[in-house]
Order: sequence, then structure tokens, then C-alpha cells
Amino acid sequence: MLIKPPSDIRSSEITDKSLYLNRRAFMRAAAVAAGAAATGCVSADALAGSGQPAAHGRKLENVKSSPLSTSELPNTWEQITTYNNYYEFGTDKDSPSRYARGFKTTPWTVAVEGECNKKAVYHLEDILKGQTLEDRIYRHRCVERWSMVIPWVGFPLSSFINKCEPTAKAKFVEFTTLADDRQMPGLASGVLPWPYVEGLRMDEAMHPLTILVVGLYGEVLPNQDGAPLRVHIPWKYGFKSGKSIVKIRFVEKQPVNTWQRAAADEYGFYANVNPTVDHPRWSQAKERRLPSLFTNTPTQMFNGYGDQVASMYAGMDLRKNF
Ligand code: MTE
Repeated sequence: MLIKPPSDIRSSEITDKSLYLNRRAFMRAAAVAAGAAATGCVSADALAGSGQPAAHGRKLENVKSSPLSTSELPNTWEQITTYNNYYEFGTDKDSPSRYARGFKTTPWTVAVEGECNKKAVYHLEDILKGQTLEDRIYRHRCVERWSMVIPWVGFPLSSFINKCEPTAKAKFVEFTTLADDRQMPGLASGVLPWPYVEGLRMDEAMHPLTILVVGLYGEVLPNQDGAPLRVHIPWKYGFKSGKSIVKIRFVEKQPVNTWQRAAADEYGFYANVNPTVDHPRWSQAKERRLPSLFTNTPTQMFNGYGDQVASMYAGMDLRKNF
């Protein structure tokens, strides 16, 4: 069976699958595969460690430590590389660790498009030129209620955006990630509308906490975690953090992200971690800090980054803008 709810979500909290599917024409079209999307970002709940940990990669040079890191103890390499959401490689938590092993991440280019002066297709090496890599130990909270602490290596997205010279019309940034059916077995399932697309408001993208990630634990980013380039926005649910980015587009209108397209009543544009606004099928008040089996850690507003980010949402109704 493709789907089972996470062990920490009571079955009564989960809509009957058939009723749920009836609500969505898109998912009806791919009934079996849509099962994973039917439980939202929820898929089979492999225990951390049951997949194949990533092989260790090249050590990254000149990585500075960042004052923006949390002092909490990071999860282990094994946990971070065996418990992943990356539906292009399958919907089980250990699928990416199994099926992303041979994924080709070089050469890699990122197309920069839309409302900016420096539209071009950039080689990843050129994007990295002149960037200071930093260790950023961040809290990572998935909408499914599990969480980890991850020692990313990356650099501020703002410093790349500035190089792209966005115009005054650029109000949002849209990220498109790779959809290559020769390498990504999950694409065949039609579980989500591909490619995976995410978006941020310009001020969120420019916020000093928002990073482009190229590494983990001081080494090159493993494939299952989004190699060679992903974004991470630590005050938002994990689905905002697109992996394997191939296009960055500056746009005037708010982009529609993939999970919104799949289930707009469950996944909004903002996706700020908010313990007071429940997911329609489960509470967001607590989380399961892996490898714990218990959902008993209180979730913090904005994932604990409120002092730095709350002002961006002052005056907004966060129930409507979920
Ligand atoms: N990016 C792509 N391209 N495809 C995905 O399926 N899943 C998202 C996000 N980025 C996803 C993605 C979700 S739901 C989560 S919780 C995080 O990646 C998980 O990141 P991690 O596996 O590094 O913990």
C-alpha cells in the first residue's frame, strides 16, 4: 500500500481517502498515485534510519560559522539523509535516499528570468563565485509535524538576488525545480503537478535568514536533501524549501506553488509555521523532533524565528494568509 498516515496522526484526523479524492479532479486523474497527495505532504512514515544514509561528499572550503545558527543539537547525518520529502524520487520517507543516489548534479545551471536586468542561464560555479559560505544550523519543521535541526551550508539568497538586479516590478520570486523523468522515478506517479514550484514574497526572499543551500555538515549537499542547490526558509513549513532549483523568476504577481495547486484548502502561499492555525486535518500545536516517536514538542510561532521575521507580517490575518 502506498499510503499510511504518520503514526502520530490519529486516523480520525484524516479525511476518508475516497471522499478526499472526490474533491479533487486532478487527483482523480491519477487515482493510485494521487494517494500520497491525498494525505497532503503526508506519506508513508518510514522511521528515520531505515533508508540508506548518503555517502559522504567533498568537504566545502572556507565555511564561516554564522551567528544566525541555533544552539540546539543538530540531527545526525544518518537521520537527515534518510528521512526526506522529495516526491520526484518517491513518496516514502526513505525513497529519496534509495532512488536519488545516481542523480546527476553536474553540470548544473539555473535560469534567471522575469523582472530583472541580469536574465541569463548561470552555471552553478558562477552563482557560487564570490559568495561566502556559512554554516547555518536551522530548525526545520515539516507541515506533517516532524522536525529536525539541520546544519546547512549556504549563503544568503539576497546576495544572489542583488546580482540579478530585480526591477521595481519584481514583487515575488518563483523557484522551479528539476523535473527529469529519466532520473526521477517519482515523476511517473503524477502524485503532484510537476515541476515542483515554490514562491516567496520579495521581502521574505531578501530576509537574512533565507539561504540558498549547497551543503550539509560542511560537505557537499547530498542528493536526497536537494543537491546541488535548494532554498531554505527556516520560519516556514518545509515544503516552501524547494530542492534542485533550475529556475528563478522575478514576477509581479504572487506565484501559485505546487502544494497550493494540489490542495489549496490545505496549503497556502505563506506557510509560516504557526501553532495556532491548524492544518485542516491535524493540529499544528506540537511537533515530533526526530528521532523521537512522540509528537510532544510544542511548536513555536514562526518556528522560533519570530523576533526576526514577525514584523514582515504585521497587520496581516495569518489565518487567511496561511
Ligand atoms: N522540493 C522538491 N523539488 N520536491 C519535493 O517533494 N518536498 C518539500 C521540500 N522541498 C519537496 C521539495 C517538503 S514537503 C519538505 S518537508 C522538504 O523539502 C524536506 O526537506 P528535507 O528532505 O531536506 O528534510
